[in-house]
Amino acid sequence: MKGQKTLLLTGASRGIGHATVKYFNAAGWRVFTASRQDWAAECPWADGLVNHIHLDLEDIESVESSLPLIREKLGDGRLDALVNNAGISPKGAEGQRMGVLESDYATWLKVFNVNLFSTALLARGLFDELKAAQGTIINVTSIAGSRVHPFAGVAYASSKAALAALTREMAYDFGRHGVRVNAIAPGEIDTAILSSGTELIVERDIPMHRLGKPEEVAALIHFLCTSSASYVNGAEIHVNGGQHV
Ligand SMILES: NC(=O)c1ccc[n+]([C@@H]2O[C@H](COP(=O)([O-])OP(=O)(O)OC[C@H]3O[C@@H](n4cnc5c(N)ncnc54)[C@H](OP(=O)(O)O)[C@@H]3O)[C@@H](O)[C@H]2O)c1
Repeated sequence: MKGQKTLLLTGASRGIGHATVKYFNAAGWRVFTASRQDWAAECPWADGLVNHIHLDLEDIESVESSLPLIREKLGDGRLDALVNNAGISPKGAEGQRMGVLESDYATWLKVFNVNLFSTALLARGLFDELKAAQGTIINVTSIAGSRVHPFAGVAYASSKAALAALTREMAYDFGRHGVRVNAIAPGEIDTAILSSGTELIVERDIPMHRLGKPEEVAALIHFLCTSSASYVNGAEIHVNGGQHV
């Protein structure tokens, strides 16, 4: 469809990513997805399977080597929005927070490959397409990037703090080319990434006394990708119901 905007989102198979691709599709966007799992058969739109890229962000070489395929799928050399949503948050055997003492180098590397390094490499690799469309990048950070969280581990929290810094750096580098770069920092959103015990946080630390819905995050991501947000660049917007930890 002529003039249709194009989204590429990582980690679309469930949670916030799944809600976001559904939201963009309903708003008329052409949606491309990337994650380890194949696209689910109950995909809500016809092109879902064709527009899915099988990608493991932990494997940095495969991120770089997937770029020609992504460009080929986009077809017209334009990308209006890149949403770096995929993320992992390793927990201990009993679901507990992994502090410095529990985190080995393999854990650090895995988390940083998925949550940070792949993000910078996708943005670099798709810069020409983003520039051609005067597009935008959204990085999904976390409340844990700026505060110690009872369940999020040290590698996760550090990767999200670094992702907030990367957002500022990319906003500086890309803004002069007409590409805006922002982050959204969710609090406790109702997805599989949450730990048991989150109910305590909801009661104690969230004034609204409820979890956020993935659709509420999707709506914010979509807003930042529209012309209504045309002067928002380098921001990290919190979506957490007023949570204080
Ligand atoms: N839910 C919350 O409360 C919350 C709070 C703060 C921040 N966040 C952030 O929001 C983002 C989405 O979280 P969520 O809660 O929706 O998580 P989720 O339900 O666990 O989904 C994570 C997504 O990331 C993908 N993914 C994981 N490892 C990957 C890899 N190696 N390569 C490619 N894709 C990978 C998964 O797809 P596959 O398994 O198919 O690969 C999945 O689609 C994350 O960045 C997370 O840190 C969430």
